[in-house]
Amino acid sequence: MGTKKALVAGAWVAGSVAAAALAIFFAAGSAAAVEVTVYKSPTCGCCEAWIAHMERNGFSVKTNDVNDVMPVKTRNGVPTRLTSCHTALVGGYVVEGHVPAQDIQRLLQERPEIMGLAVPGMVLGSPGMDIPSKDRYQVLSFDKDGNTAVYANH
Ligand code: CU
Ligand code: CU
Repeated sequence: MGTKKALVAGAWVAGSVAAAALAIFFAAGSAAAVEVTVYKSPTCGCCEAWIAHMERNGFSVKTNDVNDVMPVKTRNGVPTRLTSCHTALVGGYVVEGHVPAQDIQRLLQERPEIMGLAVPGMVLGSPGMDIPSKDRYQVLSFDKDGNTAVYANH
């Protein structure tokens, strides 16, 4: 009995290790890892978790701790009503808050004529706010005039 359980556990661990190794291989293998610059408060834990999510998805993240993130948002044209905890710059776009990496990858592929993407506020269940939650949320795009549109539904 015990042996079978141990075998199953062993296979699971081996599988996980292989998956992790594969993830690292692909992250490291993509020579042109897209660079993301993040501005966040030094005390924000969920920002760190979002950064980890981005790195797991192959982005190379540069972090800037700033005591007041509001000027960064204003400078980069983030509409006040869309603000969240951190602001990121990637590929000429602004990414505000806990936007999933997959949406940013899509953004960089499609390159629409927008300023950037935002998940306003702090939504439970979004990357970096991974508290089990059935809350639905939307990723919004915004342009230089402050117009918004739904970019993705989660
Ligand atoms: Cu946050
Ligand atoms: Cu944050």
